[in-house]
Amino acid sequence: MEVGDKVALVTGAARGLGAAITTRLAQAGHPVVLVDQDAAVEQCALSLQSAGYVARWARLDISNEAEVMALPALLGDWWPRLAILVNNAGISPKHEGKKREVIDMPLDEWRRVLDVNLTGTFLVTRTCLPVLTSHGWGRIVMITSQAARTRTPVPGAHYSATKSGMTGLARVLAGEVAGAGVTVNCVAPGRIETSMTAGVNPEVNRQHAAGIPAGRMGKAEEVAATVAFLVSDGAGYSTGATFDVNGGSFMH
Ligand SMILES: NC(=O)c1ccc[n+]([C@@H]2O[C@H](COP(=O)([O-])OP(=O)(O)OC[C@H]3O[C@@H](n4cnc5c(N)ncnc54)[C@H](O)[C@@H]3O)[C@@H](O)[C@H]2O)c1
Repeated sequence: MEVGDKVALVTGAARGLGAAITTRLAQAGHPVVLVDQDAAVEQCALSLQSAGYVARWARLDISNEAEVMALPALLGDWWPRLAILVNNAGISPKHEGKKREVIDMPLDEWRRVLDVNLTGTFLVTRTCLPVLTSHGWGRIVMITSQAARTRTPVPGAHYSATKSGMTGLARVLAGEVAGAGVTVNCVAPGRIETSMTAGVNPEVNRQHAAGIPAGRMGKAEEVAATVAFLVSDGAGYSTGATFDVNGGSFMH
């Protein structure tokens, strides 16, 4: 398959890392599908189209099984060419800029984070797998987090649990689809400048940046560049792995 035949679907594409990843993959020549529950996803796709890229959008909630299962019908003639999936959509609830500790965690907040970050990733992946495994070449990337690798003080336990869960899902899936020429890898960002990290007190981000060997928070484009490598032909022998993008804040 030529790059222009490999359709790439990115969830959570209306802003932040998802928007940067979508732009980067469009620049690489992929037709891109922007998936998000936010109405802004339409404008993002239209902006890419105005810039000369090939883009479509689907507005849906990844935790809603019926909405996710409508994707093949929504994408029509693009669906058979779907070859790349980036599971990026995620939430990290904060209250007045702070996480809730486990002792204060209401069940509905716990469930919502699991529903979106973990079950939503599963639903989108399961829906896409029949076509992703049909070409003899495919790529799945999970945007996990440094919170799946080590203790991080800012996000809650639900968030950390889902990112660890996505890593486990990626490992098992990598074994299941390797024979079909599909790789499954995780990208684990550290603290990156997006609306998610803007939700905390600015002092938290300043202190965090001071403790990072690189001396700063990361940029969405730096995560997108790693994703672009992982979906390239050259990354074909990497699967079931996690790639850190964290300025050296976690080394192992
Ligand atoms: N920003 C960081 O520092 C950082 C670090 C590590 C991991 N991550 C992960 O990267 C991913 C993107 O983070 P971001 O910083 O760009 O976040 P963001 O909040 O800026 O963007 C997330 C996007 O996901 C969409 N989304 C949320 N729930 C959805 C749902 N149920 N269905 C469809 N779309 C949904 C939102 O509408 C939004 O457009 C997340 O999975 C996050 O956990 C971010």
